[in-house]
Amino acid sequence: MKVVRVSIFGFGTVGRALAEIMAERGRRFGVELRIVSITDRSGTIWGDIDPLEAKEVKETMGRLSAWDEYEVFDFSPEELVQEVRPDILVDVSSHDEAFSMYETALKEGIGVVTSNKPPIANHYRELMKAAEEGGAGLFFEATVMAGTPVIGLLRENLLGDDVLSIEAVLNASTTFILTEMERGSSFEKAVEKAKEQGILEEDPSKDIDGIDAMHKAKILHWVAFGQEAEEVEVKGIREVTDARRVRLIAEVSKGRIRVQPKRLSEGSPLLTEGVLNAAVIRTDLLGELVIKGPGGGGKVTASGVFSDILKAASYMKPLR
Ligand SMILES: NC(=O)c1ccc[n+]([C@@H]2O[C@H](COP(=O)([O-])OP(=O)(O)OC[C@H]3O[C@@H](n4cnc5c(N)ncnc54)[C@H](OP(=O)(O)O)[C@@H]3O)[C@@H](O)[C@H]2O)c1
Repeated sequence: MKVVRVSIFGFGTVGRALAEIMAERGRRFGVELRIVSITDRSGTIWGDIDPLEAKEVKETMGRLSAWDEYEVFDFSPEELVQEVRPDILVDVSSHDEAFSMYETALKEGIGVVTSNKPPIANHYRELMKAAEEGGAGLFFEATVMAGTPVIGLLRENLLGDDVLSIEAVLNASTTFILTEMERGSSFEKAVEKAKEQGILEEDPSKDIDGIDAMHKAKILHWVAFGQEAEEVEVKGIREVTDARRVRLIAEVSKGRIRVQPKRLSEGSPLLTEGVLNAAVIRTDLLGELVIKGPGGGGKVTASGVFSDILKAASYMKPLR
């Protein structure tokens, strides 16, 4: 069995769902995955870590630094990479500035797997360059539509096609708010309900004002067209008064991104409910393709992260 050492950065909903999956499926396809460090805002624990024990400690004590079996290190993200030197760095944190940690890892030949959107949306070119320099892989399936494999489609399966356009519902929280409004709720009440159910980002304006959808659209643009979108227009859902059949739609075409609420026709594949996300991809050879699936939730997102870890493990340079 090839032993692959994994560092997990961030241990919230997705990180803990990932721990559970790794406990269950840590040996797969001739690879043995070992967790060598886990980081939350309280610090980094470093050693041979049992995923289920770590999950329990975090859930009962609230912070990893309370676990007295491990020494706790106060590494900066870059120091974490330099000191622990895992084979794969997995970012399941909400740290917007994790970009330089990825760059450090990739340049050192360490594979990076992430579900964290801003570093990929804002630094794709630099990160791809660092990945090339280090001969390491950068994987980010779960950043868009969580575990529903839209990135894999664009990055692997449709490589021979030219993408013409993508239209997508990429943010389930706004779908929730809009469907509540369709049922007669006011915008404010619908936001309150979304907050109560814990489905809004820590900063709700990221969902409501379209920032989260914009990050995802930027990632889709990079993957579909290999370049940055020059024109980006974003309008959230605050001004929607009549929410009938309205969804927050991201439109992506070469050089251009537009995120805005749109009224859809009856029967549109984008008229999703609940946590479902959907994308209509148009290409020159294949024509129109629809991909639809869950766009959030711990296990759903960890599904994409875990598959990426396996991909990164098979991509790795031979072990030392
Ligand atoms: N949940 C979903 O459905 C979903 C879907 C797709 C993508 N994502 C993305 O996946 C990531 C994780 O999501 P989540 O739902 O698991 O978030 P979460 O529950 O809020 O957990 C975030 C984790 O990141 C840690 N963290 C944040 N900033 C940090 C820093 N500077 N240094 C070290 N640790 C830091 C937090 O530490 P503490 O525990 O100490 O606070 C926490 O453990 C986010 O980027 C999110 O946007 C989530």
